[in-house]
Amino acid sequence: MQKYFKVIVNPKFCYLAPRNGLHTSMGEEVSRSLGRKVRFIHPKFFYDEEGSKLFEEICSLPEYYLTRSEMEILDSIGLELSQFLVQDYALIELGSGSAKKTRLLLEVLTGRQESVEYYPIDISDVLKESSASLQRDYKNLKITGILGQYESGLDFIKSLEQKKLIAFLGSSLGNFDYKSAIKLLKKIHDTMNPKDLFLLGLDLVKDKRILENAYDDFQGVTSRFNLNLLTRINNELGGNFDLKSFEHLAFYNSKHNRIEMHLRSKGEQEIFISKINLSIKLKKSETILTEYSYKYTIPQIEQIANKVGFKIEKIWYDKNKFFSLILFSA
Ligand code: AVJ
Repeated sequence: MQKYFKVIVNPKFCYLAPRNGLHTSMGEEVSRSLGRKVRFIHPKFFYDEEGSKLFEEICSLPEYYLTRSEMEILDSIGLELSQFLVQDYALIELGSGSAKKTRLLLEVLTGRQESVEYYPIDISDVLKESSASLQRDYKNLKITGILGQYESGLDFIKSLEQKKLIAFLGSSLGNFDYKSAIKLLKKIHDTMNPKDLFLLGLDLVKDKRILENAYDDFQGVTSRFNLNLLTRINNELGGNFDLKSFEHLAFYNSKHNRIEMHLRSKGEQEIFISKINLSIKLKKSETILTEYSYKYTIPQIEQIANKVGFKIEKIWYDKNKFFSLILFSA
């Protein structure tokens, strides 16, 4: 008996170099941000292989309501969302990660279109596995994975001829401070044509205890996720961080409506990172900032939409009103 094998040319991948020529590599960026007075490691560096795994674990923690709430919304809006779709749409996703939530959007699109072009944009290598897995499950999907930062990914998709549904889920915009959030949203707005849509998932301001528990869970997974940044720097940049000399710190800053994550030095210590030839002295209790996670209110979302030039088509919530999904047109 003869067997036929279908050759799958999909998914395709594009590797995009960062646009800002100066601080391109992780080494250069870490060197700048760790060397300054207020020490900082950018949260995009969380997502190496181990970090991506830990993040997946976070998403199913009882305290981390964000993923569950957003899934609950995505699960229930299929029909309503499809009423906003005229003709065929390509799906663009910023920070797709494991692409679990993507499946709920793909259900909507594949239900109405013969084939769907999907462009996930992510800096993490997880993109390759998640794309392969989607390809297995959805045959009429044309995936072009874009490995790069949001900005360069957006430049890339600007030239697409199809109508676009751009999804930015998981409250990942929360990592951006007000000014950079506006800048990124403007960039998204710039890529959009009249019938294009933008679906944004945002975590909402709520009781401080609920927020803080979500970022300081009982099992200590978030702590491991935070500390893994130091392991990554040890592995990739030749650092000598001793993980036992740091502790995970997460608190809600209600003045700025944001969760702050830090790594706090338990004592006075000196760190050397050989590949970037950086040596730093940390005082007892000095912290390295690793993440801001901004929480939003509806008036704030409306104000930002105004400022960027978006029209809010619809806002959906979960039952608890913990999380929101906002649909914008340009
Ligand atoms: C992926 C940025 C949305 O801020 O909630 C989870 C990352 N950090 N637990 C968030 C995160 C600690 C997450 N985002």
